[in-house]
Amino acid sequence: MENLEFIIIKEVKERGIYKFKSFLTDCETEKFKNILSPFFKDKGNPETYFPTTSKKIFYKFLKLDFKKVMTGMTLRRLAEKKKLEHISSEIFKKNSYNNMIDCYYSPKSNSNVLPWHVDLAYGGKENISHSEIIHPDSFSIKFFIYLTPVGPNNGCTSFVPESHKVTYALRKGLKDNVLAYEPHWSLDQLLNFIKKNISYFENYFKGTEILNNFFKNTEDLDNSNISKFDFFMNSGDAIIFDEGGLHKGSMPSQNDRAVLRFHYKIKKELLN
Ligand SMILES: [Fe+2]
Repeated sequence: MENLEFIIIKEVKERGIYKFKSFLTDCETEKFKNILSPFFKDKGNPETYFPTTSKKIFYKFLKLDFKKVMTGMTLRRLAEKKKLEHISSEIFKKNSYNNMIDCYYSPKSNSNVLPWHVDLAYGGKENISHSEIIHPDSFSIKFFIYLTPVGPNNGCTSFVPESHKVTYALRKGLKDNVLAYEPHWSLDQLLNFIKKNISYFENYFKGTEILNNFFKNTEDLDNSNISKFDFFMNSGDAIIFDEGGLHKGSMPSQNDRAVLRFHYKIKKELLN
């Protein structure tokens, strides 16, 4: 396990994503499908979120929401067993905490769950003030545990490797006030923003290799539903990724998609 942990940490830091086959055993997969199926509801439905701390579980207890108490405790035990906080803290090299657990359910559809985009981009707002700019280290490591099979054009979360390095540089430039904010949530906005400020990025990376790879990897991504970054995974497999990277939730065209998600962030007092 120690060797595997080392590989996971290295891959997420270097590539932005690690694909973890059989993250859950068959028995665990069946168990969590059964436990969570009552929570397979539309995105954003409060029913799909679970308490992340003992205190929050206690509040659910006071509200007599025993279903959430029991499920919350089971999910917290799973997170401990799989050492999610330890893994995310090792990726951050700082202590982290679990800031969200939910069950992300998307019914079968011919539309992408989300097109190519980056998180932490202020939802693509036209304008924001500098006081709203977040700390560049204020991002999540996300553990997506698939509870249904996924594949190209069937709900996989495609991710452009190493794109998290480019978007980290962008967030740092905004925070340091050396880049002026422009919408950069979508792929074309992001490419425009980077090209417009290319000398900043070349200076940041002390070269062009990472940028050239990024431009090559993002060529034609929006022109086809299927990309070289799509993948097949089974129920019980997982991906661990840096949310800052460029990613897409492809259309769940063959079956409904259900994902159990755990998100981890650096503790606020450690951001400096
Ligand atoms: Fe996203």
